[in-house]
Amino acid sequence: MNTRPDAPVDAGLPAVRRSDFPADFRWGCATASYQIEGGVHEAGRGESIWDRFSHTPGKVKNGDTGDTACDHYHRWPEDLDLLQRLGANAYRFSIAWPRIQPTGRGAALQAGLDFYSRLVDGLLARGLQPWATLYHWDLPQALQDEGGWMARDSVARFADYADIVTRALGDRVKHWITHNEPFCTAFLGHQHGVHAPGVKDLGLALQVHHHLLLSHGRALPVIRANVADAQAGITLSLHPISPASPSAADVAAARRHDGGRNRLFLDPLFGRGYPADVIERLGPLAPRVVAGDLAEIAQRCDFLGINYYFPEVVADATHDAGHDPLKDPLATRVVDAPGVARTAFGWPVVPEGLTELLTRVHRDYAPPAIYITENGSTFDDQVQPDGAVHDPQRLAFLVRHLAAARDTLAAGVPLKGYFAWSLLDNFEWAEGYLRRFGLTHVDFATQQRTLKTSGQWYARFCRDSLPAAPGTAG
Ligand code: FCB
Repeated sequence: MNTRPDAPVDAGLPAVRRSDFPADFRWGCATASYQIEGGVHEAGRGESIWDRFSHTPGKVKNGDTGDTACDHYHRWPEDLDLLQRLGANAYRFSIAWPRIQPTGRGAALQAGLDFYSRLVDGLLARGLQPWATLYHWDLPQALQDEGGWMARDSVARFADYADIVTRALGDRVKHWITHNEPFCTAFLGHQHGVHAPGVKDLGLALQVHHHLLLSHGRALPVIRANVADAQAGITLSLHPISPASPSAADVAAARRHDGGRNRLFLDPLFGRGYPADVIERLGPLAPRVVAGDLAEIAQRCDFLGINYYFPEVVADATHDAGHDPLKDPLATRVVDAPGVARTAFGWPVVPEGLTELLTRVHRDYAPPAIYITENGSTFDDQVQPDGAVHDPQRLAFLVRHLAAARDTLAAGVPLKGYFAWSLLDNFEWAEGYLRRFGLTHVDFATQQRTLKTSGQWYARFCRDSLPAAPGTAG
C-alpha cells in the first residue's frame, strides 16, 4: 500500500505499459451470461441447468442464484459505457442458449437473438470488438432432462444452436469461442458434482468431456460457413503442473496430472488423439470414441483461448489412505506450495506461471494465435466510507500478470490479446456472490457500479497514460 498520497498505486510493482505490446493487441474484459445477466424470465428465456442447480437447496453458498445477478440484461448500455471508460478495444461475453432456444432445440426465439444483436451493435458503436462465447455453462434444462452433455445427441443440438446464433450475428461478430473451459463442465459438473448439473460419476464426466470436444469440432465448420472472415477457437483452463518433490513417484504423478488437466484437452484438439498414458490409466472409464470423432475434434482453430488462474503442485496419491483407484485412477494429490500468496478463494498467486504456461503451449502445440481469455483474482474488497473501493492485491495481481504476459512475447509466443476476468463482480457459480472478481465493484442491493482502484489502473494502462516509469517512483 502507498503511504504517500501522491505515490502511484503501482509503486514497487513491475513496470508494464500497453506500448510494450503490439499496437493491434486486444485489451478487454470477459464476462459470462448466467453470471451477470439476471432477467431469467425475460422474453421467453427457458430454464438453464444453473437456474435449476442454484435453486436446489445446498448447492450454492448462501442460497444465491443468478435470478438478478448484475441485472446486465437491463443495464447493458451502462456496462458497455464502463468498458469504454476502461479504454478497452474488445469485450468477451457469452450467449445464454436458453434465451435462443428455450428447450435447446427447435426454432430460435427472435427476442433472444434481438437482445444479443442490440448488445453487439452497442459494442461496435463504442469501438469494442465483440468476442462471443457460445457455451459458458448455461445449458437448457430441457436438454439436461434428456441426458445433457452425457448424451451424444448434445453434439448435434450444439451445432444447430451455433448455426442459429452465427447466422444472426455473424455479419458483425467475427470472433467466436465454442466452449469455455470444458474441464469445468465435464469434471466440476459431472465428476465432483459441485457445478450444474451436479452429477458425480467419473465415467460419465469423461464421456461428457468427449462430447464437448466433439461438439466444438462439429460447430467450427458451421461457424465458418455462416461468418465471413470468422476467427474461431475454444477456451481452455490450463495449469502449469510441477511435482511436489524430485522423487520418481511425484514426478510421474505430475505427468499424470498434466495429462488430466492439460493434455486430455490439448492433445485431441491439436490432432494427437487422447493421450495414451491417460487413457491407459482410465481403463474402462475412458470415453467411447466413434470412428471419425478424433478427426472432427482436431480441425484447425484460428486461435486458442487460455484462461489462467494458478499452477498446481502435485504429489503421488497411490498410497494415500483411502485412495480409490476407480474414483481417482490418476492417483494425484494437489499440495500447498509453501510461501505462496493466495487469493481469498485460496488460489495461489503465481504470475510467472502464466509465462511458463504460454511458453509451453506455444512450444508443444504451436497454435496460430493465443489469447488470454480470462485472468483475474478475488479478494475481500474494502469499500471506503466515501464509496471508493481500494483493492491493492487485485491491482498487484493484474500488474504482475500483465508483465508476465509481456515476457512471453520475447519468447515468440503469438499472444494477441488479454481479457481480464472480470468486468463486474458477479455470481461466482457455487460460491454465489461471496467471491468478487470484478475490476468494477457491484453493490448488489442497489446495482451501483464503482470502478475499483485496479479498474482505474487498467483504464490508464489501456489508454497508455501511465507515467513513463511506473514502479520506480519513490
Ligand atoms: C473460470 C470461469 C469464470 C469464472 C472464473 C473465476 O473458471 O470460466 O466463469 O468463474 O473462473
